[in-house]
Amino acid sequence: MPAASQLSSPHLLGIEGLSPAEIELLLDLSEHYVKMNRSGNKKSDVLRGRTIINVFFEASTRTRTSFELAGKRLGADVINISPEVSAVRKGETLLDTALTLDAMHADLLVVRHPESGAVQLIAEKVRCAVVNGGDGAHEHPTQALLDALAIRRRLGRLHGLVVAICGDILHSRVARSNMLLLKTMGADVRVVAPPTLMPADIDRYGVSVFHDLAEGVRDADIVMMLRLQQERMRGSYVPSIAEYFHFYGLDRAKLAGAKPDALIMHPGPMNRGVEIDSDVADDINRSLIQEQVEMGVAVRMACLDLLTRDLSTNQGTGQ
Ligand code: NCD
Repeated sequence: MPAASQLSSPHLLGIEGLSPAEIELLLDLSEHYVKMNRSGNKKSDVLRGRTIINVFFEASTRTRTSFELAGKRLGADVINISPEVSAVRKGETLLDTALTLDAMHADLLVVRHPESGAVQLIAEKVRCAVVNGGDGAHEHPTQALLDALAIRRRLGRLHGLVVAICGDILHSRVARSNMLLLKTMGADVRVVAPPTLMPADIDRYGVSVFHDLAEGVRDADIVMMLRLQQERMRGSYVPSIAEYFHFYGLDRAKLAGAKPDALIMHPGPMNRGVEIDSDVADDINRSLIQEQVEMGVAVRMACLDLLTRDLSTNQGTGQ
């Protein structure tokens, strides 16, 4: 695989379209930032003079905070805006908001939006770089990258690993980005969900489909649990939370068939007792959940670094 030294797109809108070499480049640079974040001096000036604006139209703890920390640790000026306190409340459109921020010479916008495709739309109109912080049920590329980094650091590789992604696949941008990344890197990916929470187009991802959790996690190296995205559900997808946990909640009994040292992941926020039992979520020998959060800052530093490296050749297509 030829090594990449930069990303081919000026934006990071999804995992779709990234080559294995580009994914390796992002993960390798993230390793550098993991070291820096663990050292006494967490601050550098590679983004000095740059302006980053986080525009989050949906709730977020981990993603927004880690992008802010990432930007600040690299020496950028970072601003957060949210719709509740912006002119969106006065009826301004998404694109007008984005163009306004672009006119202030932002270098990079990080955007989260409830509609799939909204972030791409912005990227087509602005001059600055755009990073997708999660768009609807479509993609969440930095989450998949941080998940891959956490796995690679523990198990030394992605290729050939059996990864079971379990829960609300239908509404999950985390699942989509992870399926794309893990397949690109040669992992054996399984998805586990009730039929009502399995996307109709799941065949296009080249993953194995299971409806029984114990069966889906059998001999898995990694068990990745997903939150039930009730805010995206219009109608009833599960009979009750108690029944969902009974069949699809990860507990010791259902985990028993996975590899003896299988690792448990969850992107957060977790709903304990809905998709995961506290007993397994808090098992320090098996759970990667806190490490995922740590990796999130490093991965976002790598993304910001690579996307702002040479702004003279790194401009969007807009006017
Ligand atoms: C995820 C998201 O927003 O897509 N959270 C995150 O970014 N860590 C998953 C979720 O909301 O369940």
